[in-house]
Amino acid sequence: MKILAIETSCDETAIAIIEGDGDTSSTHFTIIGNALFSQIELHREYGGVFPALAKREHGKNIVPLTRKALLEARMLQGGANAIRKDTRDTIKDILEREPGLVEQFFPFIEEMQIPGIDAIAVTYGPGLSPALWVGVNFARALSLSWGKPIVAINHMEGHILSALAKRVDDTRLEIGNVAMPVLALLISGGHTQLVLMRQWLSYELIGQTRDDAVGEAFDKVARMLGLPYPGGPEISRLAEEARQLGGPTPKFILPRPMLHDATCDFSFSGLKTAVLYAIRDRVTAKSEENSVKEFPSDTLTTEDKKSLALEFENAVTEVLWKKTARALDETNANTLVLGGGVSANKHISRTFTEKLSQKYPDVSLHIPHHSLATDNAVMIALSGFYHAQNNNFIAQENLVADGGASLSKRLRKQALP
Ligand code: KG4
Ligand code: ZN
Repeated sequence: MKILAIETSCDETAIAIIEGDGDTSSTHFTIIGNALFSQIELHREYGGVFPALAKREHGKNIVPLTRKALLEARMLQGGANAIRKDTRDTIKDILEREPGLVEQFFPFIEEMQIPGIDAIAVTYGPGLSPALWVGVNFARALSLSWGKPIVAINHMEGHILSALAKRVDDTRLEIGNVAMPVLALLISGGHTQLVLMRQWLSYELIGQTRDDAVGEAFDKVARMLGLPYPGGPEISRLAEEARQLGGPTPKFILPRPMLHDATCDFSFSGLKTAVLYAIRDRVTAKSEENSVKEFPSDTLTTEDKKSLALEFENAVTEVLWKKTARALDETNANTLVLGGGVSANKHISRTFTEKLSQKYPDVSLHIPHHSLATDNAVMIALSGFYHAQNNNFIAQENLVADGGASLSKRLRKQALP
């Protein structure tokens, strides 16, 4: 079965085409087309993702990226795909809400034959609503033009499946022999959650952050230290340098929020504020004036920044591990998944690998390959494959973006378009 997947939940516009074969006991996937454009450079000057800009850029890039992925998959064959007048009007209505898309869409569709895919998978949430709508409306328009069914995918499920996927080589992935229950620690820019999968693709929320997501905390702390967006990789780089220079330093001591409480919940906003106070104290101690400058990080030395990055990363990792261990005890999970952009963090993955083998040697750990850790459409295609196998399609007119979509509730099953 061949799936074309669309991902536009945040600042990556991505299209992937994969071919899947098998069932949940063993599935082989081949990535036959893959195109991604990251808007990171454009959002950098805002210090974070700016939703209106994300929407505009998705609208600008989604057609060229789809063309590129289809070309790579050898599915961009010439020949007219005439769209009936009434369908054309409906498509126009749908795409008029996405600036720039109508003009690009029809010439693109009408120059090619209907590609040999079986379904279109699209992220409907969670994420930034204006950004999600671009992908959702594009999927609706493709579905109407090609007569292919749609599967609506939860972005966080994509993160779980991309971790479960074993990479055979650049284009081949395998998912199989997954021992249930699976506990997933999902750590991204918008989420920090512990989720339990007792049965394939069915989820229970075990714990979550009560305020900031861990990726958000990384990004905000990086900003305080005068580092560019996204801050996770920057903090990680500084922390690694500090670690190589001799490890933990008593210069800064940050709290480990909610480490000892009896839940599997998290809180990172206090930790972020503690970093702000640590910077302020350091700056005040060093300067004559008693006020904090607008960018206090200016007066921090590189050594200060490295020490703070190290202590912050250690604090986050300690809390993440402690809560995950608590959840493992409570759920008796046999598999642990780390998913989401923050799972690309070396210290976190190293710590989890070491601690798991010492304390839970029977639990298998899955961390996504770096090419699948941050947002991409391959992960949406993996999820799309299993939902398409279950005929979990949604009629295009019922498909809506849902910025706050939760993994423990799915969109209702709908009739075929
Ligand atoms: O999953 P993702 O690509 O997008 C969302 O769904 O949010 O995650 C992005 C987040 C950002 O906050 C980014 O700073 C963080 O992942 N991130 C990292 C690292 N690489 C990306 N955080 C810590 N260490 C990293 N190496
Ligand atoms: Zn993500």
